[in-house]
Amino acid sequence: MTKRIIIDTDPGIDDSLAILLALASPEITLEGLSVVHGNSSTAQGTINALSVLELAKAGHVPVTQGCELPLVQPSLLAVETHGVQGIGYAKLPAPQLKPQIQKGSDFLIEKIMSAPGQITLVGIGPLTNLALAIRQEPRIVQNVKEVFIMGGAMRHEGNTTPLAEFNTFVDPHAAHIVFHSGMPITLTPLDVTYQCIFLKEDLNRLLKINSPITKFIADAARFYMEFHDEYQKIDGCVINDPLTLALTFMPGICDYQDLFVDVDISTGVGLGNTFADFYNYGKKTPNMKVALGVRPRVFMELFLERMEKLARSIP
Ligand code: RIB
Ligand code: CA
Repeated sequence: MTKRIIIDTDPGIDDSLAILLALASPEITLEGLSVVHGNSSTAQGTINALSVLELAKAGHVPVTQGCELPLVQPSLLAVETHGVQGIGYAKLPAPQLKPQIQKGSDFLIEKIMSAPGQITLVGIGPLTNLALAIRQEPRIVQNVKEVFIMGGAMRHEGNTTPLAEFNTFVDPHAAHIVFHSGMPITLTPLDVTYQCIFLKEDLNRLLKINSPITKFIADAARFYMEFHDEYQKIDGCVINDPLTLALTFMPGICDYQDLFVDVDISTGVGLGNTFADFYNYGKKTPNMKVALGVRPRVFMELFLERMEKLARSIP
């Protein structure tokens, strides 16, 4: 029995790798993508999503275009991190595929409400579409099977401000709505993703296979590695989103704590900062499972094996 998954995504280099990992994993049936602003504009991210699906011969997967702006904050795009087109140095042909007419949040509602308890939602961008869907149809909270979110930083420094991670900083109000919704959330914060570095030798292993898939990964990752080297002195690049996706079918890669987690929506230096009540001072019921331990090379081996298999299938 495969897991029926919808990914809400801001493709984005690591988002694109997460989409490829979903397509390469027999444990998953990828039922659709809803695109959100973040690494790129929603319009550009929708083009990228369609192009990546075409690259992987997965044109059957529906793509919906979501919200173009955060709920309250001004738009913040990550051009320096993912490039002007959002896929680094990669060049993909303009997609023949078109997005669905349906809006992203409507797609999320329809899919979840039409299959109660069966849809796994993976949120790997700012949470604007998820927050809108919750406000439009609160019953998705009880009808979604589970929700995996890439975002936040518990004890780890921020990657966008000294305190805040990109997805929760770009739309902190959306994150606040989702975190307090009651949805069954598993959070993958920077605490674990920054231990999962895609290294040059990992890339060289993939390049032993001649495929449009490996060429795309190389061209996209090269830009991402240059960013990580210049801004964070990291040798390689942090592939946040594929780790989040992998936990949907291989949760044992990480260790978790049930915690009450909140996000700062005040207008000070802490905006978008996420924090866990580790000692339960607030005596609140935990609102999510948080991945705080990880086996990085177990994950990376899985990722590389799946990318090799996908690349061999698309010569
Ligand atoms: O902070 C990392 C997250 O922000 C990742 O999901 C990346 O793709 C960006 O969306
Ligand atoms: Ca992302």
